[in-house]
Amino acid sequence: MTDTIESSLKAEHVLRPSKEFAAQANMNDPDIYQKAEDDPEGFWEGLADNIDWYHKWDKVLEWEPPHSQWFVGAKVNASYNCLDRHIRKNGDKVAIHWEGEMGNSESYTYKQLLESTCQFANGLKEIGVKKGDVVTIYLPMIPEAVIAMLACARIGAPHNVVFAGFSSDALAQRVGDAKSRYVITCDGYYHRGKLLDQKEKADKGLDKIEGVEKLVVVDHVANIVPMKDDRDIWWHDLIRGADTECEPEVMDSEDILFLMYTSGTTGKPKGVVHSTGGYLVGTYVTSNWIFDLKENDIYWCTADVGWITGHSYIVYGPLLNGATVVLYEGAPNYPDKDRFWDIIEMYGVTIFYTAPTAVRMFMKWGAKYPQMHDLSSLRLLGSVGEPINPKAWSWYYEQIGGSRCPIVDTWWQTETGMVMITSLPGLTPMKPGSATRPFPGIQASVLDKQGNRVPPGRGGYLAIENPWPSMIRTVYGDEQRFLDTYWSEWGTDIYLAGDGARVDEDGYFWILGRIDDVIKVAGHRLGTMEIESSLVSHPAVAEAAVDGKADEIKGEVIFAYVILSADVPESEELKQELIAHVAEEIGHIARPAGLIIAADLPKTRSGKIMRRVLKAITNGTDVGDVTTLQNPEIVEELKRKVKEASMH
Ligand code: PRX
Repeated sequence: MTDTIESSLKAEHVLRPSKEFAAQANMNDPDIYQKAEDDPEGFWEGLADNIDWYHKWDKVLEWEPPHSQWFVGAKVNASYNCLDRHIRKNGDKVAIHWEGEMGNSESYTYKQLLESTCQFANGLKEIGVKKGDVVTIYLPMIPEAVIAMLACARIGAPHNVVFAGFSSDALAQRVGDAKSRYVITCDGYYHRGKLLDQKEKADKGLDKIEGVEKLVVVDHVANIVPMKDDRDIWWHDLIRGADTECEPEVMDSEDILFLMYTSGTTGKPKGVVHSTGGYLVGTYVTSNWIFDLKENDIYWCTADVGWITGHSYIVYGPLLNGATVVLYEGAPNYPDKDRFWDIIEMYGVTIFYTAPTAVRMFMKWGAKYPQMHDLSSLRLLGSVGEPINPKAWSWYYEQIGGSRCPIVDTWWQTETGMVMITSLPGLTPMKPGSATRPFPGIQASVLDKQGNRVPPGRGGYLAIENPWPSMIRTVYGDEQRFLDTYWSEWGTDIYLAGDGARVDEDGYFWILGRIDDVIKVAGHRLGTMEIESSLVSHPAVAEAAVDGKADEIKGEVIFAYVILSADVPESEELKQELIAHVAEEIGHIARPAGLIIAADLPKTRSGKIMRRVLKAITNGTDVGDVTTLQNPEIVEELKRKVKEASMH
């Protein structure tokens, strides 16, 4: 198979994995794609043997489109697979090297991580958490975040991790929607040297909703915080004297492992539901083959545990493989712009997985920072979250990887649970900027509106045409949204990913970005509608439209258009206030980079905003035909304002 790929590849821009890398790679069987395609269920069934089951399945897959059940009837526990089963052989191996932003650090061996997990699991039981109860985790990048996730998994309580940088409103919405009665947070954490009061945010959020019975608080920075009688309890008090053993709950393969809220095309984020058995199989094998995890690797994924990447490729995938994981609390430029390279040198990191935005930022800061450190321990690099442009790819390859490390550009989503399109580092020739090929067993394609495959080179909609083990099971509490969002374009058996893509003559996939109202800002997923609802919740705003504007570093930034309520005067202070309002309501990551106060927006005669025209105005591209607008004169005025705003 490699031969056929090789011989059909156009010679330009192709980089082949070295013979040495290929020879030692966990997956270097060129026939694997064909084998998986010939018998996908047999393929996944074979891989499921890498997981320890209490009871094996009666059936590999039950596919009643769009509902899948994987490893039907099997019994399993995620935390047992991440921890207990490694103990016999590898109890003293480090599972987590935690590095605090202020330079403090802690390491947990597998044995210690198991004990801490069990203690906290017993603590959770103590406060009343039962199998099936949703526990919300609102923690920054500290070991307790991982321990809390594994403890939930141990007792069968689905976790619902909310990114620590989200605002109190965003927390309230996610806790409320999940009807979660238990929340875990901390007293604060450091970001760019600044102490952020997480407890205050949590309190504010929980004040807005009913039903939270217990708030567990990690004492992370010795911040003095108010504790609410009856509701709040310190983590250390909860685990004091708690047993270091806790029998794992025997879970059904299809029991929910976690919820993860993510942005969609409405104002309300959706709770993506992942179940247990299939997710474990999918994250185990993708971690093993794509990151080529070996006994001695030191693996570092710079994502946050608050996103799906943190779930699948900081916690579950690597720990299922018994790997040593680096967990870093803080920012890449604190105390200086070489912090990441310092960490790589200090821990001897061998596998490094980050986002294109980060790479572009490093590129802007300059090669002198990585050059200050010995990065020779690295042997594999990864990219995730947004398209990586060839220039950033090449810089990453040369300056960080010393032109010796393969790069895996991994395309996937919160909904897919695991990487879906990627190279296999010992097998697939790389093309800078392309995520390359679907993972074995995944049938990805690029379709037109009617569901026909588009010819090579032409753009279309990215689709997945067969079920996979770690796929989204439903949207929590909103099955209709699940059906409408992903399974209504072509029928219930073809998954609409929401991305545009094209396939080249070699069968390589090039991801073109979102085709819906989702924008990716520095790899973070945000819905334009969420930001619009936040803007219109301000009394000065009558109407708002939000768009993504291309940005050299962040991929896209948020650009907002606002029509003020009657008699509200326009001012610079008001603009700043509106920008701050969004940051306060959603979180810093949703802060508009630009905001224009407009007299009107480009609208059709029926009053709908013409998004295509707005997008062109925002990005200074050709607006095309505007004759169907009710107010074509607004186009020039808005273009002028955008130009002015961009010059600042
Ligand atoms: O647009 C694609 C982009 O990120 C979206 C999924 O975002 P989220 O659910 O937050 O998960 C991000 C981390 C898995 C996709 O629809 N995306 C993700 N990876 C890539 C990418 N775009 C291009 N290339 C990638 N490697």
